[in-house]
Amino acid sequence: MSDKKLNLAIVFGGVSSEHEVSRMSATSILNNYSKEKYIPYIIGITKDGRWLLYEGDIDKIVDGSWENDKVTPAFFSPDKSMKSLIIVRGEKAERVPIDVIFPVLHGKNGEDGTIQGLFEMSGIPYVGCDTFSSAVCMDKAVTHSLLSAANIEQTHYLWFYADRYFANPEKTKNRIAARLNFPVFVKPANAGSSVGVSKVNSAEELDEAVRKAAKEDKKILVEDGVTGKEVECAVLGNRQTAEASIVGEIGASAEFYDYDDKYINGTSEQIIPATIDDETAERIREIAVRAFRLLGCSGLARVDFFVDEQKKIILNEVNTMPGFTHISMYPMLWEAMGVSYTELIDRLVACAVEDN
Ligand SMILES: Nc1ncnc2c1ncn2[C@@H]1O[C@H](COP(=O)(O)OP(=O)(O)O)[C@@H](O)[C@H]1O
Ligand SMILES: [Mg+2]
Repeated sequence: MSDKKLNLAIVFGGVSSEHEVSRMSATSILNNYSKEKYIPYIIGITKDGRWLLYEGDIDKIVDGSWENDKVTPAFFSPDKSMKSLIIVRGEKAERVPIDVIFPVLHGKNGEDGTIQGLFEMSGIPYVGCDTFSSAVCMDKAVTHSLLSAANIEQTHYLWFYADRYFANPEKTKNRIAARLNFPVFVKPANAGSSVGVSKVNSAEELDEAVRKAAKEDKKILVEDGVTGKEVECAVLGNRQTAEASIVGEIGASAEFYDYDDKYINGTSEQIIPATIDDETAERIREIAVRAFRLLGCSGLARVDFFVDEQKKIILNEVNTMPGFTHISMYPMLWEAMGVSYTELIDRLVACAVEDN
């Protein structure tokens, strides 16, 4: 990259149930990016979907008070010849050319390909997976079927639409009883941060779990519960250059790794490296890169697995915009590989530029 500073648009917030998580990830990025390399343009998307350029104090992002501070409506132009942010100051529109966009958005409209589609239209290089791979990885049922076709081991599962379930619960319950073993996990196919996920011990608890998952998505996934270790691997690079980090482990303090455990109580533990043998870790790293390539990922993804009591490696899910605070698993794994948080941002920006 040349010596010229890049105009880096950092987009945070969004309409998803992971809005708050995004505010935390973005705050870390804004406190750690290299001031010599980038001029930041901070764009916050409110929960109701307004786009605002934020020119106030970074400290006001995490608690949401930025929304009442120095904000101006702004959005990316879909016109490829502009490659710009359009800032609407009163009656006037101001145009700022943008070199790279870093969407620090989790979940709906941020990690599912929708905003990536807008970036594609704009012609501006952006960090992370493209429209297709974001959409595929967001939908756990689609991810499962693509990876099964590639013989990547996963837990037994089935999926259905919530309205079909409630039209005749007994029918689906019978299917679940025939194909899976309790305890099962019920989850929305499209969601994240454990929102809408339940561990279900018996058929009687299914209605409530499906109702909870259905608040997040019309498509519901039910999986065999796996007992064992929960481990995660961070992949960085583009298709040809993708590299896997060492493997980390989640020591969940709750019944499973739920939302509160992830973000509220902070009582779950990240164990780096994972307490698994070297051979298992090496296989996990290979599968992580294979899944990353198969699903068409680029830039980054965190690939999550279980290692069951027989040491079987079971892929759980692929997160295309994993938690990105300086203490989140993805950056911590690269930190352990000798890549600092600041350098990680540079590597991701470089991937975006190279892939364009
Ligand atoms: N099949 C499963 N067996 C055991 N635990 C599971 C299973 N599916 C999910 N979990 C638990 O629920 C958590 C959240 O589920 P996950 O599929 O990772 O969804 P999310 O995208 O919300 O992170 C996992 O981190 C894990 O602790
Ligand atoms: Mg998960």
